Amino acid sequence: MSHKKPNAATLAVHAGGALPPMRSQPLDPPIYRNTTYRVESRQAVLDYNAGHPADLFFYGRYENPTVRALEQKLALLENAEAGLCFGSGMAAVSTTVFALLAGASGAGVDLARPLLCSSAIYGGAYRLFRDQLRALGLPVVFLPPEQIVEGAWPVHPCAVYVESPINPTLRLLDLRKVAARAHEVSALAVVDGTFAPPPLQHPLALGIDLVIHSGTKYLGGHSDLLAGAVLGSRELLARVEQWRKLLGGVLDPGAASELARSLKTLPVRLERQCQTAFELARRLERDRRVKAVLYPGLESHPDHALARRDLRAFGGMVTVELPGGLPAAARLYDGVRLFARAASLGSVESLISLPVDSSHVGYDDAELARAGVSPGMARLSVGLEDVEDLWEDLDQALPG
Ligand SMILES: Cc1ncc(COP(=O)(O)O)c(C=O)c1O
Repeated sequence: MSHKKPNAATLAVHAGGALPPMRSQPLDPPIYRNTTYRVESRQAVLDYNAGHPADLFFYGRYENPTVRALEQKLALLENAEAGLCFGSGMAAVSTTVFALLAGASGAGVDLARPLLCSSAIYGGAYRLFRDQLRALGLPVVFLPPEQIVEGAWPVHPCAVYVESPINPTLRLLDLRKVAARAHEVSALAVVDGTFAPPPLQHPLALGIDLVIHSGTKYLGGHSDLLAGAVLGSRELLARVEQWRKLLGGVLDPGAASELARSLKTLPVRLERQCQTAFELARRLERDRRVKAVLYPGLESHPDHALARRDLRAFGGMVTVELPGGLPAAARLYDGVRLFARAASLGSVESLISLPVDSSHVGYDDAELARAGVSPGMARLSVGLEDVEDLWEDLDQALPG
């Protein structure tokens, strides 16, 4: 290269712009928006290829310092060795399931060892497993959650996939039993814990191998970002990471920074959401316009004892069933003024949805019955508003 001063086009691309030397640290990691990294020499590339030294970053789809900082924070919150973040909850689910089905040995899918999956899981995951994975010839077997916990398993699975608490019934699975039974047949146990994020529930401490979260829900908490996360051991996550690199579902660094900010208020938000949800559940249970209230904190909930054992608080979701079936649920839905009629959950704003129209749309009657969903159900995601304002809203909208 000549020593003459580069011209403007070259300077514009290359000159300056490096981080200045700093004796102080920013409180939070900056957003590293770059997709690629300047290495010192070929040796660095060879080092990278030989085994990814932790301080060597190479390409944005593979690793990013902002995303990694978030993963460490999430791992601390979930008491996990490691974490991986994704662009959505479904990216976390699909990438993890591909890695599990592919097996540890690299020998490929063992058709005799399917994914054993609870039939009561998030509708998107259910459809992915039932339709897309099977269309690829990948082995998936569904069983009702009670049978996964207590009943006979007709297959020898490579992994067991459950959700707890379950949407929208808020039933809980005994995760200790799920993990123990999976391990007895040398399968891995995976739970989608989106409905009870840390510090409400710690599935890894109950023996579960991998916990998945839709970060779009409570972790993000403000209805303004999509994200997903998987937490577990370093060894298992190294397998999932191989798939994330190639499927390409890594979280965007801007969203990672926003999610890290949201996590700062997660325990405080949850505390308030759980308190308000419990109070609304108690009032709804006493109300003669309501047929049933599903909330794990109520003694009437079938899994109340398990909730007391495994949950630190009972969550921010409340499902009500109205005696007038779908027409009554629809009147509640259309009648609320403060609850937003909106999909999703876990946000600072209170939201209402009708499971038969949203999370369980397209299920036939048998599938609805298996999922414990009735047409008269309305699901409330309780936000941070004042409890009296929320109660007033429900009170004026409840039909009957
Ligand atoms: C329990 C559960 N898991 C996973 C997902 C998927 O998350 P995302 O919408 O972030 O892809 C959802 C979304 O509603 C969910 O409710």
